[in-house]
Amino acid sequence: MSREQAGPGQAGPGQERPGQHYFTASPAAAHRPGLVRVVLSDLHFECATDAGVFSAGRLDPGTRVLLETVPPPPARGDLLDLGAGYGPIALAMAARAPQAMVWAVDINERALGLCAGNAARAGLANVRCVPPGDPGLPGQFAAIWSNPPIRIGKEALHGLLSSWLGRLAPDGQAHLVVQRNLGADSLQRWLQAGGWPATRIASRSGYRVLQVTPR
Ligand SMILES: C[S@@+](CC[C@H](N)C(=O)[O-])C[C@H]1O[C@@H](n2cnc3c(N)ncnc32)[C@H](O)[C@@H]1O
Repeated sequence: MSREQAGPGQAGPGQERPGQHYFTASPAAAHRPGLVRVVLSDLHFECATDAGVFSAGRLDPGTRVLLETVPPPPARGDLLDLGAGYGPIALAMAARAPQAMVWAVDINERALGLCAGNAARAGLANVRCVPPGDPGLPGQFAAIWSNPPIRIGKEALHGLLSSWLGRLAPDGQAHLVVQRNLGADSLQRWLQAGGWPATRIASRSGYRVLQVTPR
């Protein structure tokens, strides 16, 4: 969970009008196409973005911290990017595990369309961009990576995480990036209190990366 700053054409904290924020199924914001270049030490790809999706103007700094610190994903199996947005995490996962299938899940239809187009342009055939209720979604995931949507509120966030973390394979791991100022440490405590072993594996630029294993 990161700073979740407004991007171009995107309402900032406390400025949303109904249908204007990014965590909605059908953003009402007028289209404003953009391009984000994702440059990591092992990867380089471009992502199309738009108004009404998270961090449309640049790679979110929390997402960067996650992608620069997370251990390599399992080489095979079903992997999940929970709250994929325009797809930077899903695409990195797919490029790092070309034999795996990456499920990029989001409620925002505009984000899902961008994510699918970005995967296709990057030549990554192992990405499926789908809404949370998609019948094709597997029951278990070998790994979950997420920059989760803090702004949906604590209760909704806890419900979301409980439900998807419950689908981690017995030997699976989840990695979540959370901004310290937006409750990283309290989220870690909540996970631990709920029986999810959660350890901080990285702390950088105000972000924590939490590693969570099944309970
Ligand atoms: C903090 S953004 C991260 C986006 C992207 N992974 C990135 O790093 O740029 C969180 C995402 O979660 C999505 N989201 C919100 N509620 C959700 C839900 N119930 N299920 C799945 N995704 C959701 C939002 O639409 C948003 O795209």
